[in-house]
Parts: sequence; C-alpha cells; structure tokens
Amino acid sequence: MRTVREVEALRSAVAELRAQGASVALVPTMGALHAGHLALVAAARAGGAKVVASIFVNPGQFGPGEDLASYPRRENADARMLADAGCDLLWAPSVETMYPDGFATTVGVAGPADTLDGVARPGHFDGVATVVLKLLNQVRPDRALFGEKDWQQLQVVRRMATDLDLGIEIACVPTQREDDGLALSSRNVYLAEDDRARAVALPRALGVAARRLARGDDRDESLAEASEMLVAAGFQVDYVALVDAETLASSPVSGPDAGRPRRLLAAARIGGTRLIDNLAVD
Ligand code: PAF
Repeated sequence: MRTVREVEALRSAVAELRAQGASVALVPTMGALHAGHLALVAAARAGGAKVVASIFVNPGQFGPGEDLASYPRRENADARMLADAGCDLLWAPSVETMYPDGFATTVGVAGPADTLDGVARPGHFDGVATVVLKLLNQVRPDRALFGEKDWQQLQVVRRMATDLDLGIEIACVPTQREDDGLALSSRNVYLAEDDRARAVALPRALGVAARRLARGDDRDESLAEASEMLVAAGFQVDYVALVDAETLASSPVSGPDAGRPRRLLAAARIGGTRLIDNLAVD
C-alpha cells in the first residue's frame, strides 16, 4: 500500500488504480483506527473495488476547547492495519495541503446539520461537510463509506452529495461494538477504567428506549427513562432524541410523516469524554 501526501501524487495514484479497470471506493477517517474502520475497508473492497483510505485529523470540525490537540495520532500503526485489511492507497495530507494560506471556503448543509450535534457543537458539520467535499473532489471515488455510529454525519454527507449532484454513492456500515455493546470509537481510549465500565450504560439505555418506542410506549417517558439511566451511571446528558432517520427532524407521533423510519440518538459525557451512539427504532 502506497502513502501519498500531495494532491497531484494522489490523482496519479488513483488514475493507476482506475487503469486496472476497477472502481474506486474511499474510506475517509481521522486515523486512530479500530475494527469499525476496518469494517468500512472490508465493505469498500466488495465487488473488487480499489480502496483509498484517508487519514486527516481535520481541524475544521473541532470547536474551541475540544480535543484537536489530544486526538490520537498514530499513522504508522494505522497504515499497517490498512495494508493488512487490503487497502490499496493511503491519502495522508498535511493541514497545509488541505488548508493552504488563503483558504476561504466553507460548505454549510442545513436541514440534518441544524439539530442535535449541530447545536451542541456549533460549526462541527460545516467542518465535516467542507473536508468531506474536499476529500471526495480530491479522490473522485465511485463510492464513499461512512459508519452508522456517526448517524447525523452520515445524513449530512448524504444530503450534501444529493444536493450538489456529486454522483458518488454514499454507503454505510453498521456500528461495530465491543462485546458489552459499547460502540467502537477512536475516543474510547480517553476513558479511564471505571468510566469505561460505566460507559456501557449508553448502549443499554438506548436499547431499552428503542424497545419501548418500537412497541408504542410514550415517547417522552421512554426518552426520559433513558436519560435517567445515563445520569444514574454518571453521565452528563447532552441529548437523547427520537428523530426522522433521514432528515433528523423531531419524529412526529402522528400525521403523514409518522410512518417514516426513526432513529434514536444520544450524546453524553462521562469523565470528560463525550460519547455518541444511535439505534434504529421499529
Ligand atoms: O468520521 C470521521 O472520522 C470524520 O468526521 C471524517 C468523515 C473523516 C471527516 O473528517
């Protein structure tokens, strides 16, 4: 697996992959890879596509006081994992390559970006949309793959790809979990041992609420119970919300949109680490 760091080298390396007659799939990441990322690479390889993975810790999607400086960076180990997983090319640009002096463009996606993490982390989805559009333009893949763990991000990217006629398939892979149910995340390394043990309350609370909602229990009561379970485990809750799975609008209990797919999303902090998770309801 080759590593390239400049756009020109990337373009010629992708052209070489295409010359082999294969389609090209992109797996965008910020590194600190785990089995969730490797599931994306495995799905990307399906059908014989050549796989490009990107590693770029994008400053544009971190707010003031967030963990940009401490975000785990371990490119050598990541590169070995990607090569072992069958990735063909690693795109690892510097901050200067992605955001040269004078860079002045921001991509804003309204709708699914306007709620939940879009409120809790102002500017976050502008940063995500901007960097994802750049990565898609740089690699020009046929398909790009994202994890369902970042459900809101997935819907924001899908909205952008549709609205801007990118002609790139945005595919997704189910959330990969530890044996006890905690969603895999590069940020799980921040968890102290006791916080890690208590963090399992997040998937458990979502599971309980998702089952209640699916059998028609009262929405507010089900969400309140999930929040209480999180607080009892030591979490500070940002939100537990039931939303339209695609638009992220608050899911209606009646009316013409009541039958649309719903998603239960939560964000909460434990020991200073912010965790997110989500489940399908129905
Ligand atoms: O999900 C991530 O790792 C990042 O948000 C992404 C999509 C690579 C953009 O920086």
